[in-house]
Amino acid sequence: MGFFSTLVATIYAYTGLSPMGFFTILALMVGVYHLVSGMFVSPEEVTTKVEKRSSIPEPEPEPELPAEPVQIGEVTLEELKAYDGSNPKKPLLVAIKGNIYDVSRSRMFYGPGGPYSLFAGRDASRALALMSFDHNDLTGNLEGLSDSELDVLQDWEEKFMEKYVKVGQLAAKRLPLQIRTSTTVMLNHCQSPSLR
Ligand code: HEM
Repeated sequence: MGFFSTLVATIYAYTGLSPMGFFTILALMVGVYHLVSGMFVSPEEVTTKVEKRSSIPEPEPEPELPAEPVQIGEVTLEELKAYDGSNPKKPLLVAIKGNIYDVSRSRMFYGPGGPYSLFAGRDASRALALMSFDHNDLTGNLEGLSDSELDVLQDWEEKFMEKYVKVGQLAAKRLPLQIRTSTTVMLNHCQSPSLR
């Protein structure tokens, strides 16, 4: 008995089908298997898709600011300007009545494009007292303000003290280093025992 007739006999013995019927059913089952398995995604494909997606350039990550506001001590108005949001690596600072607050957590208000960005890096005292967006009012000069305007400023100050961390204060305009140094030398000289 040749191989073919043995195969036919075996198929018939196990399935009761003719070879033609058996192979037709087998072909249909393979077809259905491929159809159904095609509806699922293989793990390799998932990995490839993720890799492809990650090859799309990601948006620039937000510049990292320290989790806790950093104390900057005494700074001049000129130095404060560096904290106006133009450098995203620096915190956003606003001064009220000479005290400087870190308002970085409210970037949507004070950051570039925000409604109150004009206050960042500035002493906003007069502007807040007058509820003014006039750039001329971006100053700590409170001259000529009425009691009620000073009350408004007081309310803002309380709000800032409650909401933000004070990180420094405005220095009175600093003398150039050379003058400061010679003043210190002079003071030391005056205090020297030979002059007492
Ligand atoms: C039509 C007028 C105004 C409207 C509708 C308005 C509305 C608002 C709103 C909804 C907030 C958010 C409040 C919060 O979630 O805590 C806000 C915050 C603020 N507003 Fe106004 N505002 C107006 C005018 C002004 C003016 C004239 C000033 C000062 C010149 C000002 C200064 C501020 C400041 C500094 C904040 C932020 C306070 C913070 O840091 O929490 N606003 N404003």
